Amino acid sequence: MQDMTFVLFGATGDLAKRKLFPALYNLFLDGKLPDSFSIIGLGRNYFPDDIFQSKVESALREYSRSTVQTTGLNEFLAKFRYCKFDAADDDSYLNLHELIKDSEIELNIPGNRLFYLSVAPQLVDVITLGLNKSGISQTKGWKRLIVEKPFGSDLKTARQLNETLNSTFSDEEIYRIDHYLGKPMVQNLESFEFANPIFGSILDHKRIANIQITASETVGVETRAEYYDRAGAIRDMVQNHLLQLVMMTALHLPEKMTAEEIRKQKVTIMESLRPIYIENIARDIVRGQYQAGEIFDTPVVGYTEEPGVDASSMNDTYFAARLHIDNPSWSGIPFYIRTGKRIGRKSTKIVIEFKNDVKHTDRLTPNLLIFEISPSEGISLMINMKNPSSNQFEPNFINFSTITEDQPEAYELLLFDAIRGNATFFANWKEVELSWLWIQPLLKAFQENSLPLHPYPAGSDGPEAANQLLQADQFNWW
Ligand code: BG6
Repeated sequence: MQDMTFVLFGATGDLAKRKLFPALYNLFLDGKLPDSFSIIGLGRNYFPDDIFQSKVESALREYSRSTVQTTGLNEFLAKFRYCKFDAADDDSYLNLHELIKDSEIELNIPGNRLFYLSVAPQLVDVITLGLNKSGISQTKGWKRLIVEKPFGSDLKTARQLNETLNSTFSDEEIYRIDHYLGKPMVQNLESFEFANPIFGSILDHKRIANIQITASETVGVETRAEYYDRAGAIRDMVQNHLLQLVMMTALHLPEKMTAEEIRKQKVTIMESLRPIYIENIARDIVRGQYQAGEIFDTPVVGYTEEPGVDASSMNDTYFAARLHIDNPSWSGIPFYIRTGKRIGRKSTKIVIEFKNDVKHTDRLTPNLLIFEISPSEGISLMINMKNPSSNQFEPNFINFSTITEDQPEAYELLLFDAIRGNATFFANWKEVELSWLWIQPLLKAFQENSLPLHPYPAGSDGPEAANQLLQADQFNWW
């Protein structure tokens, strides 16, 4: 692994505190950081380095998955420098450039620079252009840019943003974070088929009845109304996380493939995703909004009563859809996706439902292969077994749990990949563009309110219309 400088924009923000510092620390403990590296944190307020280092230390004590150890802690903290930074001020870039060059000389780091933008969306292009203008991005070593979501707010703004980033970084140098791709079980999907050849023969369109992808949450809008009321579930969860899960599930990888080959397959899947035509939106899409209800026996308010949300808001907090991938592997197999806030339980999972033998349809529960992604992780297989007392078939779940005490977190896996230049589990531009392209007619329909907004009580499973979406095809959600 090559020595490098990690430049973190937004170093005083929540993500840095909760996820990034702990992730870096755990990588450090596991010996997964380069021999020589420095981390330069940037934020709007001034702090001397030692105050910044003590903030990093507090974050580790509060959020690190491994207990903070005395040994090595000072060595780790000493890697952190701080620089006051204003994205609109040329002098800020000059100071930053000097700091980077000084630390490269001091630590003998060969100009490899990793820039992480954990900043408000409107600053992403400003900072990228500033890196270019100031010469910071012209380096003798490699350079990479990690960007957080959202990547644009529709097809047009995503394309504009990408063009701006491309003026400074090539596509191979841009790492678009989708933290769902960092979840260990999602990373397993890519290798599942070739690592388990017996499943290769059953993950076949002659045997699969449908695929169901769920990402439900118990939390509501929390303190993010300003962002969420404009984004809705469709931008917040569907355009990125759910469509990435569709791509990862639809991959057929009977043998190990390179990052480039996987990307190509994901793009092919998105290109085969049947567009939702205006006349079919009401048939294939369900949108909903939570009303007052109860979560874990505690009363909670409805979406429009949440602080910061407009009382007449028609924003979607729930989304379900029927999708079709028109390629030889998946033709005729519906994919159903759903996501919602204030659902009765937190669950992220992918369920593959197999076809029943027609003769037994009434009596047998279909076989299921389930990938549990969160909050628990594991794979389970539902098979029917005869109950000797009743002589009836009953469904039985065989669970393979992969949870270990010291499971790395998504950000750890993703940072490690970015540092060593492996972009397999990052969203590449073509995937992002095709996702926006697919979503675009829905954004329009949502904005024009040409689709019903189904209310559902907080704590429920979501609107009844989402059940009807599957019942129309003689299926149920699992
Ligand atoms: C984020 C969304 O990307 O994902 C949040 O902005 C959502 O609204 C979160 O709560 C869900 O992530 P996870 O990992 O808890 O399923």
